[in-house]
Amino acid sequence: MSGPNTDYDPVEVTPLHADEVDRRRDEALAAIAAATSLDALKQVRLAHAGDRSPLALANREIGSLPPQARKQAGMRVGQARSEVRSALDRRLAELEAAAEEQMLVDEVVDVTATLGDPPPGSRHPLTTLQERIGDMFVAMGWEIAEGPEVEAEWLNFDALNLGPDHPARSMQDTFFLDPPEAHLLLRTHTSPVQARALLTRPLPVYVLAPGRVFRTDEPDATHSPVFHQVEGLAVDRGITMAHLKGTLDHFARSMFGADVDTRFRPSYFPFTEPSAEVDLRCFVCLARPPAVDSCRTCKGEGWIEWGGCGVVNPRVLIACGVDPEEFTGFAFGMGIDRTLMFRHGIEDVRDMAEGDVRFTRAFGVDV
Ligand code: DAH
Repeated sequence: MSGPNTDYDPVEVTPLHADEVDRRRDEALAAIAAATSLDALKQVRLAHAGDRSPLALANREIGSLPPQARKQAGMRVGQARSEVRSALDRRLAELEAAAEEQMLVDEVVDVTATLGDPPPGSRHPLTTLQERIGDMFVAMGWEIAEGPEVEAEWLNFDALNLGPDHPARSMQDTFFLDPPEAHLLLRTHTSPVQARALLTRPLPVYVLAPGRVFRTDEPDATHSPVFHQVEGLAVDRGITMAHLKGTLDHFARSMFGADVDTRFRPSYFPFTEPSAEVDLRCFVCLARPPAVDSCRTCKGEGWIEWGGCGVVNPRVLIACGVDPEEFTGFAFGMGIDRTLMFRHGIEDVRDMAEGDVRFTRAFGVDV
């Protein structure tokens, strides 16, 4: 027969020993007092009051005591845990109050502070370039003409010898407006201002028409549904292609420097005959070997496509009531956005449309 195990005194289960419980409690209270932030206190709560804290583990041991020892051990551990809990709560309240006070200091708003001078506004570089081009032509005795952005289909196309079957009239390029029977559209180029000028002004006519134009292009680095053109029209007695060339060379020089001129390549526009594409001599390499070969601006071409031009087609003059036997003229159309891009090495047309002041600021304050 086996007797009782006299070596084992269940009241002496170590974690429940009075000294041990006190030690754990004091450890917890010291850690709580030492916590100086809410985060630190969270860690202390976990270590000293969490499910796996020494006092919680001790609490679990109570069940293994003989019934007569449980009450006292339970009270001892319970008392220690509740001291720890209330110390935690007190410290939490203190730290929260301190954090709130600090927040009030950190986030203080000085309602008397001044903002300093507001940055001066400036016009968009496209606007200033447009006006610079205008000034240059005005200095030669030309006039500035404007036309509406919502234009009559007849002026945008028919008057310019763009017959009803011309591809540019298809829905692909043009924003037509409702109702269709109104025959209105967003002008696809500034050329209708040519027709408007001839229909309304006395001859001779020397007009420059800068403005916004619209095409149904998906925006990407080189396309935008809204862009800017400058249209030129000179109708007088004895106007020839030579006048056109001289005018465009002057225009090119005033934009890109004294060494720059233009070159014509044969092309077709219904409103001019003959017609040409205008290339600009690359203002970086001047199309001279060997610099041209490694030129990044013209990509080794020496020339940069700039716009279209030609001698005004007599059919346009007739449509606008001008006698082509007496008067001749030249016309040209350039992209202003392209011109700005060449001048300033802008690589993405979207930069000009997004309205980010960091872009415009680089052009200086031009009011
Ligand atoms: N309107 C043409 C376009 O948007 C550009 C153009 C070409 C205008 C020749 C002209 C011209 O006045 O003569 O592509």
